[in-house]
Amino acid sequence: MTTILGIETSCDETSASVVDDGKTVRSNIVASQIDLHRKYGGVVPEIASRAHIERLDAVVEEALEVASCKPADLDAIAVTNRPGLAPALVIGVTAAKTLCWAWNKPLVAVDHIHAHAISPAIELEESIWPAIGLIVSGGHTSLFRVNGETSIDRLGATTDDAAGEAFDKVASILGLPYPGGPEIDRAASKGNPKAIDFPRTMLAQGSLDFSFSGIKTAVLYHVHGHGKTTGGLEKLNEQAIADIAASFQQAVVDVLVRKAMLAIRQTGLSTVVLGGGVAANRTLRISLEEECSRQGLGFYAAKPAYCTDNAAMIAALGFHQFAGGQTATLALDAFARSSL
Ligand code: KG4
Ligand code: ZN
Repeated sequence: MTTILGIETSCDETSASVVDDGKTVRSNIVASQIDLHRKYGGVVPEIASRAHIERLDAVVEEALEVASCKPADLDAIAVTNRPGLAPALVIGVTAAKTLCWAWNKPLVAVDHIHAHAISPAIELEESIWPAIGLIVSGGHTSLFRVNGETSIDRLGATTDDAAGEAFDKVASILGLPYPGGPEIDRAASKGNPKAIDFPRTMLAQGSLDFSFSGIKTAVLYHVHGHGKTTGGLEKLNEQAIADIAASFQQAVVDVLVRKAMLAIRQTGLSTVVLGGGVAANRTLRISLEEECSRQGLGFYAAKPAYCTDNAAMIAALGFHQFAGGQTATLALDAFARSSL
C-alpha cells in the first residue's frame, strides 16, 4: 500500500488529505475561506494567502489524525504547484517542501486541473480510462482526452471566461452572494429554464473551445435593458431572478453537453468524465448523464466532495505520478498557469 499526503492551497480552500493507492480517501479536510472573501465579492489573493498560512498546520494535523496516520506511514507528499493564485500556491508549496525535508519524504508536484480531470476515478474500483474529461472550474473550462491517470491531452479550452467565472459574475449581476455557482444552482431550481433564450456560443464548426463572456453580457443587458449596466435589478422580483438564473444555467449546460458529445464523436471514445467546481451543478450532472445514457456512453462524475477544491484529488494524482517515478526537488516553484 502506498500512502500519500496531499496539500492544496491554489485558491480559497486550505485542504489536506491522506489517500491510499490513489483511491481510498482516509481523510479530506477542507477549510473554506468563503466568509473572508464574501464581502469583496470574490477571492482576494493576499487574504487567501494569509489565511492559508494561519490554517494549513492545523489542517494537515487534522488530516493525519482523522486518517490515524503518522508521518512515518507516509510514502510521499503531493502538493498543487499550478495553476492558481501565486501568493496562495506558494504557501502550500513551501509547507510541502518543509515537511518533505523534515520527515525525509519524496515531493510530488501536481497540476490542479489535471487532478480535477482524474477526480471522477477516486473511490472507484474499475479503471475508467480512456475517457473524454470535461473539466469545469472557476478558472478553467476544458475538454481533455484522458488516456490514463498521468497521460492527458487537451482538446479544447475557454477562449475567455471559464464557466464557473460566468456563474459567479451572473450571480453578482443578479445580486446573489459569492460564490455564485451554488446560488445560481439554488435559484434556478425555482425558475423556468425556457423563460429566456440566452445565446449558446459554439464558435467555429467542430471547435472544442468555449466562450462564456457573451452570455454574461446578454444577462447584464437582459437585467438592465440593452446597452445599460445599471438600474434594472430593482425592478425584478424573486421569480424573474429565478427564471434568469435557470435560463442562464440551461444555456451554459447545453453548450457543455454539446461540446462533450462533439469530443466523443471526434475521438471515437465511449466514456465521459466530469470534474471541477461547476461539476457540482445538479442540472449539469443530470443533463450530461442523460445524454450519455441516450448515446450508450459510460459516464462518471466526481463525487460532490471531490468537485470543488480538495486535497484528495491532489493526493490521488500524486500517487500515480509517484508510482511513475515523477518526483520533484526541493527547488520546486509555484506557477499561476497550468502546464496542460
Ligand atoms: O474547482 P473549483 O472549486 O475552483 C477552481 O479550481 O476554480 O471551482 C469553483 C467554481 C466557482 O466558480 C463556483 O461558483 C463553481 O465552481 N461552483 C458551481 C457550483 N458549485 C461550485 N457552479 C455551478 N453550480 C454549482 N452547484
Ligand atoms: Zn479547482
